[in-house]
Amino acid sequence: MDILDVIKTRRSIRHYEDKPVAREDLLRLLEAAMAAPTACNSQPWDFVVIDEPESMAALRRTLRFGPYNAPAAIVVCGNPERAHNAEGRKYWVQDCSAATENILIAATGMGLGTVWIGIYPLPSVIQPVVKLLGLPEDVTPLCAVYVGYPAEQKRPRTQFDAYHVYWQRWEPRKKRARLKNAKNAD
Ligand SMILES: Cc1cc2nc3c(=O)[nH]c(=O)nc-3n(C[C@H](O)[C@H](O)[C@H](O)COP(=O)(O)O)c2cc1C
Repeated sequence: MDILDVIKTRRSIRHYEDKPVAREDLLRLLEAAMAAPTACNSQPWDFVVIDEPESMAALRRTLRFGPYNAPAAIVVCGNPERAHNAEGRKYWVQDCSAATENILIAATGMGLGTVWIGIYPLPSVIQPVVKLLGLPEDVTPLCAVYVGYPAEQKRPRTQFDAYHVYWQRWEPRKKRARLKNAKNAD
């Protein structure tokens, strides 16, 4: 599949087949994750892979916006202390988000479904996950990526809208410009 088709095919999957994901495939997803760019090449991340049914059940109970039946999850964690310098430490959210998107795209290309479950920055979501996974103080969970074989079909799409695109400089726009530009984008 063309790379843009893979990107458009990636959709949030919230219904999964009752079929485990091979560890080999989970490791390939982590290879994709750790191919992401990071500020100052800091790689300020750690990943907790969950693929045992009891551990998945506990994660599902902990994440109130993630009650889905995926057989596995990768919890993407920021570990800014790994950065080589003070500036690098400030970018951990962007670095870990790039890794997360790589997981989603790679999974799509492998025929797997995923959904990004946000954890950071809400303390009420972070704290129970830290406790459940036994994360040390310096390590913050950014999100959980649920992974499994899709039991639902979603149509590929972009949400491209020329209204959000500026060339060279920002310029004020009238509301009706949205309709005009959106039409041009079709
Ligand atoms: C930072 C972030 C947090 C998200 N958190 C959740 C979540 O807690 N539960 C959920 O079902 N989906 C979550 N999603 C998925 C979005 O709802 C989904 O990406 C969006 O509706 C667009 O649909 P699509 O992924 O199919 O393109 C999250 C996505 C992002 C990027």
